[in-house]
Amino acid sequence: MSINSQVQKSNLEYEEFNMLRGLRLTSLKSCLLEPYASSFHIKCNYTSTKPSSKVQNLPRLPVPKLGDTLNKYLKSVQPFLNDAEFNTTCNLVKEFESGMGKKLQSLLEKRAEQHQNWLEDWWLNTAYLEYRDPVVVFSSPGLVFPFRKFNNQQDQLKYAAKTLLAALDYKALIDNDKIPVEMMGKSPLDMSQYKKIFGTCRIPIEKRDKLSFNDSKHVTVIHNNHIFRVDLWGSDGKRLNEDQISQILKKVVDLSSTPASDTIGVLTSENRDNWAKAYQLLSKDKVNRESLLDVETSLAVLCLDAATGVWRLEGDPQRTLAAAQTIHGGGSRSNGANRWFDKTIQFIVGADGITGLTYEHSPAEGQPIAVLTDFIIKYIEQDKPVESSSSSPKDPVRLTFNVNKEVAEMISTAKTNLDKLVADLDLNCFKFDRYGKNFIKSHKMSPDSYLQMAMQYAFYKLHGTPGAHYESAATRMYAGGRTETIRSCSVQSVQFARAMLDARAAPRDKLAALHGAVKAHKDYTVQALQGLGVDRHLLGLKLIAIENGIELPKIYSDPGYVRSAHMRISTSQVACRCDGFMCYGPLVPDGYATCYNPRDDDVNFATAAFAAHPDTASAPYRAALEHALTDMHDVLLRATQSKL
Ligand code: COA
Repeated sequence: MSINSQVQKSNLEYEEFNMLRGLRLTSLKSCLLEPYASSFHIKCNYTSTKPSSKVQNLPRLPVPKLGDTLNKYLKSVQPFLNDAEFNTTCNLVKEFESGMGKKLQSLLEKRAEQHQNWLEDWWLNTAYLEYRDPVVVFSSPGLVFPFRKFNNQQDQLKYAAKTLLAALDYKALIDNDKIPVEMMGKSPLDMSQYKKIFGTCRIPIEKRDKLSFNDSKHVTVIHNNHIFRVDLWGSDGKRLNEDQISQILKKVVDLSSTPASDTIGVLTSENRDNWAKAYQLLSKDKVNRESLLDVETSLAVLCLDAATGVWRLEGDPQRTLAAAQTIHGGGSRSNGANRWFDKTIQFIVGADGITGLTYEHSPAEGQPIAVLTDFIIKYIEQDKPVESSSSSPKDPVRLTFNVNKEVAEMISTAKTNLDKLVADLDLNCFKFDRYGKNFIKSHKMSPDSYLQMAMQYAFYKLHGTPGAHYESAATRMYAGGRTETIRSCSVQSVQFARAMLDARAAPRDKLAALHGAVKAHKDYTVQALQGLGVDRHLLGLKLIAIENGIELPKIYSDPGYVRSAHMRISTSQVACRCDGFMCYGPLVPDGYATCYNPRDDDVNFATAAFAAHPDTASAPYRAALEHALTDMHDVLLRATQSKL
C-alpha cells in the first residue's frame, strides 16, 4: 500500500494540498499545540512549545514477538555468512530466545506499557541527539529545488521573498490544522512531525544535544557569512508583502557587501562536542547569548548564497553541484559558513540560481519536507495577487558576536574540518529518464521494491558480494512513529543479482529471480511499515539491557549481527512531485548513499560515497545502477516478448 494511495473523502478547504499531492484526504479536527514548560539552557523570556503527538489517538507502536523477529533476523543474515558461521548464529539465537532474550523482551514490554511509544525518546537520542559526528554530511540531508536562472540580484531576492511567503503560508496551514492527514491504506499517519518544522533548533550540548521548539515572527538571514534578524511582520502587526521583503533583503545585502571576518556559522558544521564547547564559551557573553537566542527562536534560516558558476555546467554535473551546496555549502571558501546547520530548515537561494534547502534531521523525516518543497514550488509558479503592505516594516538587525581568541581558533579548526568533509564527499546525482514508476507498475511490480533490487544488483555487480542495505520505512501509523529499517538484502536479492550476471541464464529465469526478489522486499516492507522489522526491536532489547546494567548478549557481537548491520547501501525514497531531489552522505566509510525520487516517467537519484575509501566511488556505482536499470528493463521486455 502506498502512503498516498488510499484515500477517504475530499474537503474543499484542502483543495490546494490535494491538488499538490494528488490526494483525497480526511481532515484532522483537533490537532492543537500543547504548551509545556521547557527547561531552558539560556534563561530568556520566550515561551517554548513542544508540538503534541497525542491528539490523533493513534495506536501504540507494538513490541514484536521475540520469535518472529529472530526468525526474520536469521533470514536476513544468511547472505553474509558461510554455512559454519550461519550454524553458529542459529545456535546463539536459540540460546538467546530461551534465555536472556525472554527477560529483555519482558522488560521491553513493560516499558511499552509505560510509554506511548517505547522507541520514540530512545530513537531521538541514540540516532540523533547523542550522535557526535557533524550533522553536515552525516545526518542532515539537502533538498535541491528545480533550477532557476537569476539574471540579477533582484531576481534572486524576489525568489527568496516568495520562498519565505510560501513557507509562512505553509506554516499557517500547519498551525490552523489545515494539513490533511496522510493515509496509508485505511490507517491515518501521525502528523506531529509537521508541527516541528518551523521554529525548531538543535542546541549543541556535550554528550547529548537538545531540541528547542519556538514560535516567532522573524527569520534569520545569512549573507556573506553575516547573520541578520529579519522581522516578517511590521510594527502594525501586518505581514510584509513580497516587495517589502525583497527590499529588506536588499538592505541585508547592502549591509554585508564584504565577507564577515568571524564566520560564526561554520561552528555549526563541527563535531557536536566541539561545537558545544564553542557554544559554551560564546554564551558567557551577554551580546552573544542574545544573538544565539535570536537564531534559535527564528522560524527558519534563509541563506543568500554567493554564485557558484552553476550555469557553466549542465545536466548531471549541475545537479551534483547543487546537491553539494545543499548538503555542505561547498566548504569554507564557498557557502559552507553561510549557514546555521542547527536550524531545522535553512532555505538556500544562491545568486545564480541554485535553490533548495538543508534540513536538520532530528525532529522530522524527509516526507513533510518534500511536501513543503512541492508547496513552495507551486506557490512560486503561481502569479499571486499583490498582498497589502504593512505600514511599518522593521529594518533588518545585524546579530553581533564577540569572538575571543579561543573561539577564533575554534572557527579556524571548524573551517579546516568542514573542508576535509567536503573533499571526502563524492557525490553523483542524475536523472534516469529511460522510464519511471509507470513502466514498473505496468509490469505489476512495486516501483519501490524494483528500484531497491536495482541497487542490490548494482552493488553485487561492482563488489561481487552482497551489500547490507538500509531503506527507511515510515512507521507513522503509530503515535510518535518515525521509521523502521527495511533490510533490502535477502537470499532472493542475491539470487536475482547472480541470475542477472549469469550469461547463460534465460530471460525468463532472470525475470523469475526478479519477481522473487521484489516479492521478498515487498513482504519485508509490509512488515516494516507495521513496526515489525528486525532492527528497531533488536535495538530496543539492546537498550533495555544497557538501561538495566545487563551484559549485552553474544548475538550483538556475532558476525551475523555485525555484518548485516554494516549498511553499505543506505537508501531512502523521498518523493516529491516537482523535479527536485533529496541527497545525503553514506552511513559507513565503505558505503554508498542513494536517495531517490521516483516519478511517473523518470527517477531522480542522488548517490554518494566517501572519497577516502579505496573500495567505493560514486561514478562506478552510478554507472552500475544505470546499467542495472537498463538490464532489468530489457529482461522485462524480452521475457514478455518471448511469451507472445
Ligand atoms: N502493481 C502495480 N502497481 C503497484 C504495485 C504492483 N504490484 N505495487 C505497488 N504499486 C503502486 C502503488 O499502488 C503506488 O501507486 P501510487 O503511485 O498511485 O500511489 C505506487 O506503485 C508506489 O508504490 P510502491 O513503489 O510499492 O511504494 P510506496 O510508494 O508505497 O513506498 C515506502 C514504499 C517504503 C518507501 C513507503 O511506504 C515509505 O515508508 N515512505 C517513507 C520513507 C521515508 O520515511 N523516507 C524519508 C526518510 S528521511
